[in-house]
Amino acid sequence: MKQLTALSVALVALTTASLHAQKFPGLALTPPMGWNSWNKFAGNINETLIRQTADAMATNGMRDAGYVYVVVDDCWEQMSRDKLGNIVADPNKFPSGMKALGDYLHANGFKFGLHNCAGTKTCAGFPGGRGHEFQDALTYASWGVDFLKYDWCEHGTANSEETYKTMRDGLATAGRPIVFSLCEWGDTKPWLWAKDVGHLWRTTGDIYNCFDCDFDHGTWKSWGVLQILDMQDGLRQYAGPGHWNDPDMLEVGNGMPVNEERAHFSMWCLLAAPLIAGNDMNAMSPETREILTNPEAIAVDQDPLGVQGFKYPIPATPVIPGPRQPTAPTKDGVEIWFKPLANGEWAMGILNRSKDAKSVTFDWKNETVTDSLSNRDANFATTTYHLRNLWTKSDAGTTQNPLTAEIPGHDILLLRLKPVH
Ligand code: GLA
Repeated sequence: MKQLTALSVALVALTTASLHAQKFPGLALTPPMGWNSWNKFAGNINETLIRQTADAMATNGMRDAGYVYVVVDDCWEQMSRDKLGNIVADPNKFPSGMKALGDYLHANGFKFGLHNCAGTKTCAGFPGGRGHEFQDALTYASWGVDFLKYDWCEHGTANSEETYKTMRDGLATAGRPIVFSLCEWGDTKPWLWAKDVGHLWRTTGDIYNCFDCDFDHGTWKSWGVLQILDMQDGLRQYAGPGHWNDPDMLEVGNGMPVNEERAHFSMWCLLAAPLIAGNDMNAMSPETREILTNPEAIAVDQDPLGVQGFKYPIPATPVIPGPRQPTAPTKDGVEIWFKPLANGEWAMGILNRSKDAKSVTFDWKNETVTDSLSNRDANFATTTYHLRNLWTKSDAGTTQNPLTAEIPGHDILLLRLKPVH
């Protein structure tokens, strides 16, 4: 009887522990950086590609710039689970197995990321995690997985919050620190409930490899850079260290002209977005490499303050977070963005959304930038800032004189402002 009571106490303790499981603390204190196979390779993946990608990243400056998560997206799985219900990697694509792949990545200074899905099947039709969350979490932990991107196809009538919490609890119980990346496309407003569930959450449907367009797949759409940018309105207060808005992976290096790549990358840095490259690491132009590995742009994204940037001036009426649709027809013009940085510094972006070059004048002395979210302001009448151009990597005067710039079409001027003491 005594033994039975001890057993039930232990069981109750165990159940309570998993009921109150937490996401792993202390992870993704700055937006995660890495590479993911989907944007470039979709289902055409195998262990040779992933190893060659890591090898390239170890020598082309990407790893050392901070891109450490190598994430294998959809289509790594065998079509069905084994007799015990375990998820199995496709032995033709990954003959050495996932543990060996994880070991290889770890030995070369990377972290190992995998994709699966909260529904019954992944979007490409491979086994999903529904009903197998705790079992799969143990499998992933045993393979040395460090990052799990969890998709939302084939979810039926499942409740997103409950479903993602189940996987969070599975991961917590498995005990390995794994960054949990929610990929439910913003459908059920994860920014309202996912702070204690995952470390990042997609805010929109998939990115499309263009600067200003959308692509209609019939039942769903994917979105260009500007369209995704507009869908971030009203979300910045939900992001911070350990819990980021994710406007999807980068299309830098997949064919946009270099000015568009620069603008895309800069905006993701101003948004404190996860920087997950999605191009071919073995065929990267010097221009693309220069953009992706620019340490001064990356420092804007990775700033320890962890505050997402905003469009200036902040709209007088708050934008109500709602379904992520482009709010208005794409505006053909110039936008000014600010991002508060640590030590009283700021990043500033002047984005030219139009195809034509635009002349911009910004007379600092007439402007005050106030951010109630970070409780910071920049009063240029009382404080002078040094200006640094983060793309030419050169100093660009101070805020004593009005800024005038000619910004080419679909390009950006990205500056760092540092108070002169
Ligand atoms: C969804 C995700 C993409 C990618 C694919 C894989 O569309 O949003 O990022 O993972 O699934 O099938």
